[in-house]
Amino acid sequence: MMFLLACLAPRPGTEPNSASRAAESRAAAAMRVPDSARGGPPVGEGASPLPPFVGVSRASARYEGADACTPCHAAAASTWGASAHAHARTTLVGAQKGYDPVCLTCHVTGLGHPGGWTGEADLGRGQVGCEACHGPGSDHITAPAAGYGALPTDASACVACHTHDNSPDFSWENYWPRVEH
Ligand code: HEC
Ligand code: HEC
Ligand code: HEC
Ligand code: HEC
Repeated sequence: MMFLLACLAPRPGTEPNSASRAAESRAAAAMRVPDSARGGPPVGEGASPLPPFVGVSRASARYEGADACTPCHAAAASTWGASAHAHARTTLVGAQKGYDPVCLTCHVTGLGHPGGWTGEADLGRGQVGCEACHGPGSDHITAPAAGYGALPTDASACVACHTHDNSPDFSWENYWPRVEH
């Protein structure tokens, strides 16, 4: 049944107005933790949406890439490596959209933010990495402690990217168990 629905649904993200839809969902996530409350540089229109993580100062923290987290969080890294998030930009490349700035916002890590993805060679940030959900991690890597990047355990952690239009079948109950770590 899931398979049938997936086939009938419009191909996610390919509608011409996906830019305005992305802006809508960014606004929804920002209702929970407003971008303006996080400090740091203003979040530009074309930047990756910020899930409602807390415990991160955007004034100092930069994105470092998933490789930087692996040594200390082996179990989480192994779960992530087997998930769809670990090949999200590869999917875009396969769809001939590997450089489309609209698509990249949700399919890479930290686009348009300090330390975020800048190009092909930057493999650490080149997919939906840890920091795409938990927030920029450089301060945490320098001084590892609890409190960094805490997220709600409900759909609001995900809907910045899993919008109704890009992920029509999304629900916390069905999706979280597939990436839980
Ligand atoms: C799709 C979003 C997402 C991605 C990608 C992601 N996480 Fe998480 N992570 C969560 C959520 C949601 C939780 C549960 C809520 C919480 O504890 O903040 C969580 C929890 C955690 C925890 C706390 C677990 C506990 O039991 O206290 C750690 C540590 C963690 N993640 C590390 C990582 C690392 C390392 C990566 C990359 C290899 C990663 N996460 C990728 C969303 C994500
Ligand atoms: C930064 C954007 C972003 C955030 C935040 C995000 N995701 Fe995703 N997620 C994606 C993208 C992009 C894909 C498609 C990856 C692909 O197939 O190439 C995806 C795919 C998935 C898939 C696989 C779906 C399938 O049909 O195979 C699951 C499961 C998933 N995400 C769960 C979650 C959960 C749970 C959260 C919140 C804790 C979350 N994601 C947060 C961007 C995101
Ligand atoms: C607002 C965030 C967002 C934007 C913008 C976005 N996507 Fe996605 N995309 C996702 C999410 C989330 C998924 C996972 C959907 C699911 O399986 O539930 C996804 C899934 C996909 C998939 C299916 C992957 C699979 O294996 O089934 C393709 C292909 C895709 N996106 C291409 C694109 C293209 C092309 C664009 C630009 C026109 C784009 N996306 C823009 C969030 C986004
Ligand atoms: C040098 C080791 C180290 C590195 C590198 C590291 N962490 Fe951690 N991380 C820790 C420690 C130690 C804790 C605290 C564990 C505790 O007290 O439960 C932690 C806690 C966390 C938590 C849970 C926060 C909470 O309060 O629940 C998350 C999420 C997390 N790390 C994600 C990441 C991500 C993402 C990266 C890469 C950007 C990363 N970590 C890199 C050591 C590290």
